[in-house]
Amino acid sequence: MAITIAIPKETRAGETRVAATPDTVKKWTAAGIAVQVETGAGLGAAITDQAFVDAGAHIAKSATETIKTADIVLKVRGPEAAEIAALKPGAHLVALLDAYREKEPLAALAKAGATAYAMEFVPRITRAQVMDALSSQANLAGYRAVIDAAALYGKAFPMMMTAAGTVAPAKTFIMGVGVAGLQAIATARRLGAVVSATDVRPATKEQVESLGAKFTAVEDEEFKNAQTAGGYAKEMSAEYKAKQAALVTAHIAKQDIVITTALIPGRAAPILVTKEQVASMKPGSVLIDLAAPQGGNVEGCIPDQIVEVNGVKIYGPTNIVTAIATDASALYAKNLQAFVGLLITKDGALAPDFEDEILKAALVTKDGAIVHPSLKATP
Ligand code: NAI
Repeated sequence: MAITIAIPKETRAGETRVAATPDTVKKWTAAGIAVQVETGAGLGAAITDQAFVDAGAHIAKSATETIKTADIVLKVRGPEAAEIAALKPGAHLVALLDAYREKEPLAALAKAGATAYAMEFVPRITRAQVMDALSSQANLAGYRAVIDAAALYGKAFPMMMTAAGTVAPAKTFIMGVGVAGLQAIATARRLGAVVSATDVRPATKEQVESLGAKFTAVEDEEFKNAQTAGGYAKEMSAEYKAKQAALVTAHIAKQDIVITTALIPGRAAPILVTKEQVASMKPGSVLIDLAAPQGGNVEGCIPDQIVEVNGVKIYGPTNIVTAIATDASALYAKNLQAFVGLLITKDGALAPDFEDEILKAALVTKDGAIVHPSLKATP
């Protein structure tokens, strides 16, 4: 029998994204799957109820009504207690659960007997690229960070030679060159900035240079081994951090824009810009700290506020992609659609293969317990 998929309206303050689009809904309804969307769920992403209805969805009046008969519940962020209470026994729930930090919903999901999957745990293997929500969202975050920096900066990004004089290009420094950092480099370059970038993973040097930016990093033995087998950064030694800080100190004082994106999975973000370094920057400079949700890379950053220190602005948005919710939703919805493909057959029947390595990696709760190995290990 074909199943029911539910799309509740996101409840977190400021969360404008939605877990489905008319495009993804249409594919499911064409396969005979019933889709229930909570009224208003798409409005933050400029998708009306009517657009969902036209794609074959049924509009439900409340979260409970949306969820209670669903076999699969799709969300952007972790569920609220009321949403968990509405789940039918054995329901599957897929979301960016932020499972390392948000322990409460995780415990509640386990207690409710839900089979929950954390989209942030989808492994970065080729077959799972289409489900890689961290990348789809980080890419847009990197773009938007540069746009926000340009809006906060009192000068222009590109060099302009005019009859009235020359406008100098903005010197822009990107710290952390993962998915967000690479898009930030590309966006800043498109706006005409002079761009440099740093990272602890050696593989990034070539990527930075291929985008036309200058690579600035301490390239010692530790740097050569700073990438884990999974492609992530390791936590660097105190000695490396001191060398890195010295190099960065000299460089940062000359920058107009600094964008930080450095994260270490499951840990607090490393401090990359100290108070003293902020103080060394020229008035009018702007720092955008994309690591704000994980504690921040910039000392003095207050999440979601624009802090001004001696004329230098520090902005650490915790959910920057909400400012570009239509695209963020469209890409995330596609990620989810591909993931749901692992839970159902072509005819829309529920048939999760728990031996599939992607499902296994993303599975966090099942049969009343938290089952993900790295979550069981964390106190
Ligand atoms: P992330 O969001 O975990 O971290 C951002 C960046 O910060 C990383 O490049 C990291 O090396 C850097 N960083 C950490 N500590 C630092 C420090 N102390 N100083 C300077 N930089 C520091 O990274 P993201 O964007 O999730 O990408 C991680 C890796 O996964 C990259 O190698 C990326 O290319 C790879 N990847 C692979 C995919 C695939 O094969 N399907 C898809 C997406 C990413």
